[in-house]
Amino acid sequence: PVQGPLTGKHILITAGPTHEPIDPVRYIANRSSGKQGFAIAAAAARAGATVTLIAGPVTLPTPPGVTRVDVETARQMDAAVDAALPADVAIMVAAVADWRSADEAQQKIKKDGSGKIPPLHLVENPDILATLAKSDRRPPLVIGFAAETNDVLAHATAKLARKGADWIVANDVATHLMGGEVNALHIVSASGVESLPEMTKDAAATALVKRISDAIA
Ligand code: C5P
Repeated sequence: PVQGPLTGKHILITAGPTHEPIDPVRYIANRSSGKQGFAIAAAAARAGATVTLIAGPVTLPTPPGVTRVDVETARQMDAAVDAALPADVAIMVAAVADWRSADEAQQKIKKDGSGKIPPLHLVENPDILATLAKSDRRPPLVIGFAAETNDVLAHATAKLARKGADWIVANDVATHLMGGEVNALHIVSASGVESLPEMTKDAAATALVKRISDAIA
């Protein structure tokens, strides 16, 4: 095992999208690639942490030294997070689908030729971050992410309180499209905002992990 500033710390990370089935062949998803979350898992492992990475459906290799749990849906991710506790730090990078089908069909929904369009009724998924932040097994440092297309800092500041997180790491997905190689992170906490310049997702991960080790040292 690597010795570093996070040796002896358990860091729990969620990454990637979730897939919410509509029927056996269709699902609701989003454009998350998982790259930023996987880069953070890799950086935390390089800093000596014991890392559990709960990954939605992505096509990325597991970073060296990281324990990976693959899930598909938000409810599976929620259960996997719970099962991985306790942790010293939780970093919720996953782009969890906000809604899932209220009535997942057990057989493929067919066009019946009448031109009638089937309705898609949605229900809300569990908010994994908010649930964890309020739980009695809350890790001492809980970090959420916010992917926004507008008013990034205002939304991030509101999210800090609404989710009960210690930090919200915001990024602008209008200028940095999901799936890209670079990111510009804004770390929002009770003590203010630190805006990092645009850099690769690996460099952004290293910078974030440095701030985490400084905060919990
Ligand atoms: O509310 P919003 O989806 O923008 O919040 C984003 C943050 O909340 C991210 O850290 C994400 O991983 C987390 N989240 C979650 N469970 C949800 C929705 C979001 O953990 N159902």
